[in-house]
Amino acid sequence: MGKLAITGGEPVRKTAFTPWPVLAEEERRNLEDAFTSLKWGGQPFPGKYADSFAKKFAAFQGAKYGQCVSTGTVAIEACLKAIQIRPGDEVIVPAYTWEGTVGPVLLLNAVPVFVDIDPETYCLDAKLIEAAITPKTKAILPVHLGMRFADMDEILRIAKKHNLKVIEDCAHAHGAQWNGKGAGSMGDLGAFSFQSSKLITSGEGGAVISNTLECMELVQSYINAGRASLTDQFHHRIIGYNHRLSELQAAVLEPQLDRLPAQAAVRAKNVKHFESRLQTTPGIRLLKPDQRITRLAPYGYFFKYFEKEAKDIPRAAFVAALQLEGIPCDGLFYEPVYKSSLFPLKPEDFPALSWGREKPIDLRTKYSCPESERAAYHEAVWFPHFLFLGTTADADSIADAILKVLASGEELRGLDHKAIRNQRLGRADRES
Ligand SMILES: Cc1ncc(COP(=O)(O)O)c(C=O)c1O
Repeated sequence: MGKLAITGGEPVRKTAFTPWPVLAEEERRNLEDAFTSLKWGGQPFPGKYADSFAKKFAAFQGAKYGQCVSTGTVAIEACLKAIQIRPGDEVIVPAYTWEGTVGPVLLLNAVPVFVDIDPETYCLDAKLIEAAITPKTKAILPVHLGMRFADMDEILRIAKKHNLKVIEDCAHAHGAQWNGKGAGSMGDLGAFSFQSSKLITSGEGGAVISNTLECMELVQSYINAGRASLTDQFHHRIIGYNHRLSELQAAVLEPQLDRLPAQAAVRAKNVKHFESRLQTTPGIRLLKPDQRITRLAPYGYFFKYFEKEAKDIPRAAFVAALQLEGIPCDGLFYEPVYKSSLFPLKPEDFPALSWGREKPIDLRTKYSCPESERAAYHEAVWFPHFLFLGTTADADSIADAILKVLASGEELRGLDHKAIRNQRLGRADRES
């Protein structure tokens, strides 16, 4: 197998994977058109490109209405405004997700209630939701992470039973379908991100979709500085921001939507091939297929890593060694939000955390979600989607590198390398 690159050997892979995003003529043409039109911003609202894309994207996901916004985090915040969240309301969120799922809840002076993940999917564990519901609960905010779905059948059943709203965080799920229904179209609203790493990107950006006009009117008003929505049937007047997506950003979106199904098919094929190489590899457990996922959105791919079965190679060392073999990957991709260095919460800054209590709730110490902690600090190994956008040979090189690292466990013992230290650091403090 050869000496590991982390100890000075030749890396398995010396060339980059497929660059992301894809540089294509269609985007260049639209950008030039937006540029010369002199309509660079989001006004007159909605911009031509933002509006055309939002309608097409909503239809693609199976929703009636769609609206572009400035980021995925803002999309979540706008969804919360659309369900008319009030200060002190509680929102059930998964503990294991990007911090941007949870930040908007707090920033609207509502209270996030962390629920652990299902170890089979790493998404919100629907079996634990009912125990977290209180008279203050207003909504459930599942996140469809890494090629999997939170159990929407159960979540919708529970929401109906308890009269709760459902907001789907679909930052990983462009094009994904659950039992034939598009991500984001099943709950009251769906929030998407078009940040650089996402399956469709405008550098930064996002979208909200919904089947409910009233919700969409509130979204529009909130992200268009409080103006009346285009239909204005519900006459909502709320204070808002300018969170419109600029036309210079929106111009690149539609060609990517056109390309998405073909790209998803390539990624799915390569993922399948990659998995066929690792089916029985000690130390690695692939996620079980789920028949309810009727269209796969291969964004963040992950498998579970078991140190004990992998000759006691710590995950940090495994990931660092794999990175130096030329394979971009990450162990500490997400943390349980309540423990994350990107969640430096001072309870006294958020009044609702104190209401009706002698002492404010300290979200950083209140929770312990064992599955989320296991995923974050021990098990999960994440790979970016562009690794699977190339050829079967690319997928083979990832498998080859993994098998090489696992075969060379002894070389990794006792190694004190910067890359390994980096894997252990909180994500805000990592050396670049
Ligand atoms: C699960 C999840 N939710 C929300 C977001 C927020 O998106 P944005 O970075 O566009 O604000 C992201 C982005 O990485 C995400 O991965």
